[in-house]
Amino acid sequence: MNSAFSLPEASTHAVRVDHIFYGLLVLSGLTMLVVFGLVIILAVRYRRGSSAKRGPLPEIVSREFEIGWTSATLFLFVFLFWWAASADLSSLSAPANAIEIHVVAKQWMWKTQHSNGAREINALHVPLDQPVRLVMTSQDVIHSFFVPAFRIKQDVLPGRDTELWFRATRSGVFPLLCAEYCGTDHSVMRGRIVVMRQQDYADWLSRQPEGDDLAHQGAKLFVAQGCSGCHADASSVHAPKLAGLYGRTVNLSDGRQIKADESYIRDSILQPKRDVVAGYEPIMPSFAGLLDDGEIQSLTAYIRSLATTPEKQTDGGAK
Ligand code: CUA
Repeated sequence: MNSAFSLPEASTHAVRVDHIFYGLLVLSGLTMLVVFGLVIILAVRYRRGSSAKRGPLPEIVSREFEIGWTSATLFLFVFLFWWAASADLSSLSAPANAIEIHVVAKQWMWKTQHSNGAREINALHVPLDQPVRLVMTSQDVIHSFFVPAFRIKQDVLPGRDTELWFRATRSGVFPLLCAEYCGTDHSVMRGRIVVMRQQDYADWLSRQPEGDDLAHQGAKLFVAQGCSGCHADASSVHAPKLAGLYGRTVNLSDGRQIKADESYIRDSILQPKRDVVAGYEPIMPSFAGLLDDGEIQSLTAYIRSLATTPEKQTDGGAK
């Protein structure tokens, strides 16, 4: 179905957003009619020289009516808040079965990478009717990943991971735009989202040139950049072991607790002194400037992959 503004509704989120949009449109229209209607009626009725009755209102009208319409509008606005907020909140956390795709934005292109390592530029192929989770970062300035047909938009920031998820409900090709002014060629920083039936997507993916998958690239970097010197199981340096880290709650030396997600791992690589794990010294150097964003994504993917290899767990029953 297309909306009245001829934007296709191509994701589950699009339908919810459009319902809210039309709901607000109707409500604002009705409010406007009431206000303008009253202005006109009262202006005519109480014009100078008319014989309409003036003077104080009966008690019941001035009090019960006041209380009545005040609480009615209060409940209406609380309902609107709940309606819009619940749709927004559901767009924040992806379902557990979502497939994951990494996105790196740069002046002026979108680079995407599938879990098997297949890469695309200014294009993203996704399967129909399956949740897709995007983990996004920028190599330079702030960009914004915007797919109007899906009604989703998320800033893509340098030095940080942001996430977005969607479930496409129509196959076809839909425009991807950058919605944050990012320099000279901002307006041509476009791409396309190709939604394919699940079987077609699987076929497409298997035809892509074999790249090393992200975790595999990360494993090489882990050694090449010297991370393994301290964090490998055999290391004699007193450094937190990374097996089983991802998804766990970590106790920090200043008493805070933090969930080890993608942002935490990225922050720990770039600003290691910020969230020091309880029981460890802040001796790790920052890798800011030494790794590009694609490399950080690879390392993060590698560290995550350690979470699911139980035989590598060494730190006493970590989950
Ligand atoms: Cu990237 Cu605008």
